[in-house]
Amino acid sequence: MHVQVIHGPNLNFTGIREKDIYGIAGLEDINRRITARAKELGIIVDIAQSNSEGEIIDIIHSCYKRVDGIIINAGAYTHYSYAIRDAIKSVDIPCVEVHLSNIYSREEFRHKSVLSPVCVGQIAGFGAYSYLLALEYFSLKWSDQNG
Ligand code: DQA
Repeated sequence: MHVQVIHGPNLNFTGIREKDIYGIAGLEDINRRITARAKELGIIVDIAQSNSEGEIIDIIHSCYKRVDGIIINAGAYTHYSYAIRDAIKSVDIPCVEVHLSNIYSREEFRHKSVLSPVCVGQIAGFGAYSYLLALEYFSLKWSDQNG
């Protein structure tokens, strides 16, 4: 199975910005953990980060007929990007929305995700583990479907 991980805006500053909320691990550390867990689970993983909405949409489009699952942390775009939502819907690939922080314990504008309705589900609040839990989901689903 092949999974695309997408980190959205400002996630390249993870480990630098708002450490009390997002933790001290940098994005490279998080990516190392994702890669290591994916390897253990037998998942091929591609990882991309972009601060721009159009680029994120291009990455989602590039998933079409290429990957079996998408894990996306769209950062603040989560809360208002109908364009990213439409892109996820367009490619029709199971997508798991993840967040480092628990968006429901934060400012009210973070409580709404416009992506959730087109995603399989959402994992929020577990720091880097949010991504690993999403990988776990794809692995379990894949083994259930393929014996
Ligand atoms: C985030 C939560 C968003 O509200 C915020 O804009 C981010 C990061 C998270 O991973 O917790 O940039 O997606």
